[in-house]
Amino acid sequence: MSAEDSVSRRGFLRTATGAAAVAGAAGAGAGTAAGQTTKEVIVGPGGSLVFEPATVYVAPGDTVHFVWESDNHNVVVESQPEGASWEGTEGDANTLYNTGHEYEYTFETTGTYSYFCQPHRSAGMVGEVVVNESGQAPSSGGGGEGGGGG
Ligand code: CU
Repeated sequence: MSAEDSVSRRGFLRTATGAAAVAGAAGAGAGTAAGQTTKEVIVGPGGSLVFEPATVYVAPGDTVHFVWESDNHNVVVESQPEGASWEGTEGDANTLYNTGHEYEYTFETTGTYSYFCQPHRSAGMVGEVVVNESGQAPSSGGGGEGGGGG
């Protein structure tokens, strides 16, 4: 039957496509190494009174993109490094935003930024943005000699 023939040929093609997709993904990863990064923080995921992740690490010039997944939250800055001027979401501490709202800010000054959600601060809805040269969580101990060469 010709149908059988066509099935086995399709199986072969699928294997070839899979290999190409893997190669493509690796190439894209290398391409994003230079330039700025945007990291996402979910505000009130699934109605939970948290920012997720609660601590986000970025490098100077990187952007943090906040996305609301439940209602009545905001971002109020509690403390930040000297010389920085992050103001959180627009409006005062009583201005709240709902599901679907998006807000982003580009951090330039290294240091730790603490923020909270005004109505849910006492419930523990607080977060931190840490800006450092690597844009990564500091590794405790260990020789981290990541991929050199070229
Ligand atoms: Cu909140």
